[in-house]
Amino acid sequence: QHYWVVIPAAGVGTRMQADRPKQYLPLRGRTLIEHTLDCFLGQPELLGLVVCLSADDDWWPQLACALDTRISRAAGGRERADSVLSGLKRLSELGADEQDWVLVHDAARPNLAETDLHKLVRELADDPVGGLLAVPVRDTLKLAGPDGRVQSTPDRALYWQAYTPQMFRLGALRKALAAALAAGVAITDESSAMEWAGHSPRLIEGRADNIKITRPEDLHWLG
Ligand code: CTP
Ligand code: MG
Repeated sequence: QHYWVVIPAAGVGTRMQADRPKQYLPLRGRTLIEHTLDCFLGQPELLGLVVCLSADDDWWPQLACALDTRISRAAGGRERADSVLSGLKRLSELGADEQDWVLVHDAARPNLAETDLHKLVRELADDPVGGLLAVPVRDTLKLAGPDGRVQSTPDRALYWQAYTPQMFRLGALRKALAAALAAGVAITDESSAMEWAGHSPRLIEGRADNIKITRPEDLHWLG
């Protein structure tokens, strides 16, 4: 099963409070984004890869992979969803078909296991909608009231954390994202746009260590 990949990498990393966008921070001798890209660039099923970069990004050209001919650039947008939509439009320019599978994966998620990538693609290859890697929540959940006190304890068994990659057909995902953005709906992942458009993406259980680097302490987990 062949697929395209879009990597949104146009964020500024506000919560990371670093001296550069977090995707360019070092981890085990390379930048986060190089680790992220590595997993995909090793796949024979890869049709092409688009990185969504902010206009003033002067870190990307310094990386060796900036010269990789399988990687194209797209302009980042204001929100993550805008960046992804821009990446999808780039895929069409590259000749991608509306029915082709697209995997969207955060640049700031450098620890994706190849086994998880293979599992996602294998399990969804014949799916009418697509889906995402996700992890069942481990901790007991609390619903907070406005006063900061526990209002209730929802049934943990029903809750999952949404990870990436998220895998959908190019045409369906572009339409869902464009419609959700136009409607002003808050969209933090591809699945929520697809859900908003009336689809039911499948949850594929992945490894919990495919974390998104968000706050300074997160890097310690991957040391
Ligand atoms: N992203 C993007 N375009 C944006 C915002 C985010 O491409 N306008 C990307 C980020 O680069 C990151 C991924 O989406 O790889 C997940 O977003 P997030 O973790 O929120 O990263 P940042 O927006 O950079 O961090 P913060 O929200 O703390 O500023
Ligand atoms: Mg953000």
